[in-house]
Amino acid sequence: MDLAVSLEQRLEETADRITVALDTLVPRVQGPEARLMSAMRYAALGGGKRLRPFLVLETGRLFGVDERCLLRVAAALECVHTYSLIHDDLPCMDDDDMRRGRPSVHIAYDEATAILAGDALLTLAFEILADPQTHTDPSIRIQVVARLAEAAGARGMVGGQMMDMIAEKLGDDIAAVTRMQRLKTGMLFTFAVEVGALMGRASEDARHALSAYAHDLGLAFQITDDILDAEGSVELVGKAVGKDRHKGKASFVSLLGLAGAKQRVKLLADQAHAHLALFGARAHYLNTIIDTIIERKS
Ligand code: IPE
Ligand code: IPE
Ligand code: MG
Ligand code: MG
Ligand code: MG
Repeated sequence: MDLAVSLEQRLEETADRITVALDTLVPRVQGPEARLMSAMRYAALGGGKRLRPFLVLETGRLFGVDERCLLRVAAALECVHTYSLIHDDLPCMDDDDMRRGRPSVHIAYDEATAILAGDALLTLAFEILADPQTHTDPSIRIQVVARLAEAAGARGMVGGQMMDMIAEKLGDDIAAVTRMQRLKTGMLFTFAVEVGALMGRASEDARHALSAYAHDLGLAFQITDDILDAEGSVELVGKAVGKDRHKGKASFVSLLGLAGAKQRVKLLADQAHAHLALFGARAHYLNTIIDTIIERKS
């Protein structure tokens, strides 16, 4: 591993490669339904930190998985994540006009187009995964498809979003809030970290370590998102802030206070580092990304 490359460079390189992959994989703008493709491309190619793709690539590299295959899986995951953001911003959900520093899809287009663009990105993800170019072994491809479906669906991200919609009612139930965060954000993070191990037929020990890492990192990521919502600036974050409190949503910030939430993030980050001990220096970037995620301002 060439440790001379800084994490920032490595992140930037991954972001560029994912954008190129998505540019190829998301359909061209053409035909009478061109408005749909245009909205899909607006959302998928319009920035974002590309953290989940980064995790797919870095963990897959640990097990020598072909980078072309990893890029396809990373692009599919980013399609699901982008769809979740488009729907999350709709007036019937969080009603947010700004995303990634630009008007949300339903503002730049309209609500119906935003719903359809989200639907089409979700299904595109599975079209990408099912293709033989994603992995030569069909039994592995089916497992990848099943894992993403689980992580994205009712027992994953969508289930968490449902809990989030009723989050005012969760009150001070820390177990319920933890479960909500685990589902709405944690499950896609877990997929990102575990899929490379699946594709590379990693050992049980390695899989356990990565799954524990994903658990702590995903939670630390979402608590940091809640902290940014409470104290971040709209210019840096690129989306509206202060909305969780305004809506009375239960979060780690509402439950533990800002200082308590920060302390929890630190604890989770320490645990995440410890889970990587097994991989030694090979996990350099997986280690450094923890600190970037919890110290981020956007
Ligand atoms: C935002 O995710 C939504 C949450 C799960 C909190 P990111 O912060 O990864 O969003 P982008 O992709 O960088 O815009
Ligand atoms: C969204 O959580 C998580 C998703 C599954 C999209 P948030 O509603 O907190 O995300 P932001 O703050 O709008 O990005
Ligand atoms: Mg939301
Ligand atoms: Mg939101
Ligand atoms: Mg948020």
